[in-house]
Amino acid sequence: MLSMIVAMAKNYVIGKDNQLIWHLPEDLKRFKKLTTGHTIIMGRKTFESLGRILPNRRHVILCHDMAMKIENENIEILEDISMLEKYIQSEEEHFVIGGATIYRLLMPYANKLYITKIEEEFEGDVYFPEIKEEEWQEVEREEGIKNEKNPFNYEYITFIKKNNK
Ligand SMILES: NC(=O)c1ccc[n+]([C@@H]2O[C@H](COP(=O)([O-])OP(=O)(O)OC[C@H]3O[C@@H](n4cnc5c(N)ncnc54)[C@H](OP(=O)(O)O)[C@@H]3O)[C@@H](O)[C@H]2O)c1
Repeated sequence: MLSMIVAMAKNYVIGKDNQLIWHLPEDLKRFKKLTTGHTIIMGRKTFESLGRILPNRRHVILCHDMAMKIENENIEILEDISMLEKYIQSEEEHFVIGGATIYRLLMPYANKLYITKIEEEFEGDVYFPEIKEEEWQEVEREEGIKNEKNPFNYEYITFIKKNNK
C-alpha cells in the first residue's frame, strides 16, 4: 500500500525553488521515525533536493531519463508510475515523499496521508493536491511541539481513504 507523507502550509504550499521553505526539526524527526525501514518513493527533483541517500530506507526514484544511474543497492530508478504496481499492491506500507508532481500522480493510489499542517501561509511554487472531504477520512490529529527551534503552530493529521477497496 502507498501512504503519502508531507509537510504543507495552510495554503497547501510545500516548497519553493526546489527546497523546503521552513525548518521544523520535530517534523523531520517524525518523518525519520515513520519512514525508517520502509521504501520511500519520490520524484527526481525531490531526490536532488534531499542531496543525499537517507539511511535505512529503500529509495524509489521516478525519472524519465533512462540514462540516469546511481550505483547504490538502496536505489531503484523507475521510468513510469506503472512500474510501481508491486508497491501499490503489496500489504506492506510504502511512503510517497514527494514532490508535488509525484503526490499529484499517486494520490489516486494512496490509502493513507500523514499531513503536517503548518498554520501559516507561505509563498511557494509547488502545492500538495486538494484533500477532498468526500475521499478522505480524518482518523488522527495531534498538535506539534512549538518551541524556539520549531517556531510555528502545526498539527499532524492522518487521513485514510474512504471506501478503500
Ligand atoms: N513539504 C514537503 O513535505 C515536501 C516533500 C517533498 C518535496 N517537497 C518540495 O517539492 C518540490 C519538488 O516537487 P516537483 O513537483 O517540482 O518535483 P518532483 O515531484 O520531486 O519530481 C518531478 C520529477 O519526477 C519525474 N517524474 C514525474 N513524473 C514521472 C513519471 N510519470 N514517470 C517517471 N518520472 C516522472 C521527472 O523527472 P525527470 O525530469 O528527470 O524526468 C520530474 O521532473 C521541492 O520544492 C521540494 O522541496 C516538499
